[in-house]
Amino acid sequence: MGNGKQTILELDRIVKRYRTKGFFFGAHGQDVIALNEVFIKILRGEIFGLVGESGSGKTTAGRLIVRLEQPDQGKIYLDGRDITGLKGKASKDYSRRVQMIFQDPYQSLNPLLSVFDTISEPLIIHKIGNAEAREDSVWQAMKSVGLSPPHDFAHRYPHQLSGGQRQRVAIAHAMVLKPEFVVADEPTSMLDASMSAQIFNILLEMRRRLKVTFLFITHSLAAARYLCDRIAVMYKGNLMEIGPAEEVLRNPKHPYTQALMDALPKFVHSGGVKRYETLLQAEREVSGYVGCPFFVRCKVARAPKCSREKPPLKKLDDSHSVACFYAEPGIKTRSGGKA
Ligand SMILES: Nc1ncnc2c1ncn2[C@@H]1O[C@H](COP(=O)(O)OP(=O)(O)OP(=O)(O)O)[C@@H](O)[C@H]1O
Ligand code: SF4
Ligand SMILES: [Mg+2]
Repeated sequence: MGNGKQTILELDRIVKRYRTKGFFFGAHGQDVIALNEVFIKILRGEIFGLVGESGSGKTTAGRLIVRLEQPDQGKIYLDGRDITGLKGKASKDYSRRVQMIFQDPYQSLNPLLSVFDTISEPLIIHKIGNAEAREDSVWQAMKSVGLSPPHDFAHRYPHQLSGGQRQRVAIAHAMVLKPEFVVADEPTSMLDASMSAQIFNILLEMRRRLKVTFLFITHSLAAARYLCDRIAVMYKGNLMEIGPAEEVLRNPKHPYTQALMDALPKFVHSGGVKRYETLLQAEREVSGYVGCPFFVRCKVARAPKCSREKPPLKKLDDSHSVACFYAEPGIKTRSGGKA
């Protein structure tokens, strides 16, 4: 990358397929490719954003990283070590170093455990410290997520907390082990704007104080811009554009990222609103094409190339890469010939 930072986590040409069930008993389902040869390197200490519409494969990437599932192809490396086949102590060690915060804290928190028991549980599982040291760690974790004074919350159960407080408990639960890498999957999508801002600030503070690296999953470009150093834009399991958040969102080069920017409400844009108009009103009717994943929706596609070849990720500069044949540094993707 040329900025001296080291890679902490690498997804190396990851493929993940799911087989959906047939409609009728015994009928064959279809394969959904949730991730299609995704290649991403995340640098130590950064907040890396994974953005894209619903179904683009963001959560799948997070679940593979925390080893809730295995990839069908490709490897995942933490500090250069392949984690796909870890077992025994190495697997437990990995689950201490890499944690996940889920979108819906109601589902991720055990309703039968008090706040104190929820946050101390990982310390007990990993046999960290004695009872006194664990209690100290729990109070510290609670304070660091703003559950203060901790004694007011320690004996409450999830249903006795607000949504924002529940998400704070989930963050404390993930952070009490002092992980190096945290996947935060849409952690604020169920919260209002002011609560979201508070949660963002907690994550930023964790990064500053504990040097945690984050994979921040979001469909919100505004959240990505506020929080992330770099982002990757996903579309139907494919990586379309990757680069510094500010650069990608100010100067998007992929027609899909440009379409996402067009879809933002006008008040989000500062200054003059630039429109790209790269999204077709109605999808192209094509079957069995093997080309660019965005071809059916791309207004600036050029036939036959875009329908026959999948564009590789090409570097526009040191830090900004785009999977479009026609993206060029500094030049807006222009409308091409018939497709
Ligand atoms: N367990 C599963 N079985 C079958 N298909 C699945 C499964 N999990 C995910 N998928 C499919 O994989 C694709 C990617 O899903 P994923 O949940 O990763 O998307 P996402 O980007 O997180 O979406 P959202 O923004 O809605 O959370 C989708 O088409 C989804 O339907
Ligand atoms: S490669 Fe072609 S279809 Fe794909 S985004 Fe670029 S112009 Fe559109
Ligand atoms: Mg998701």
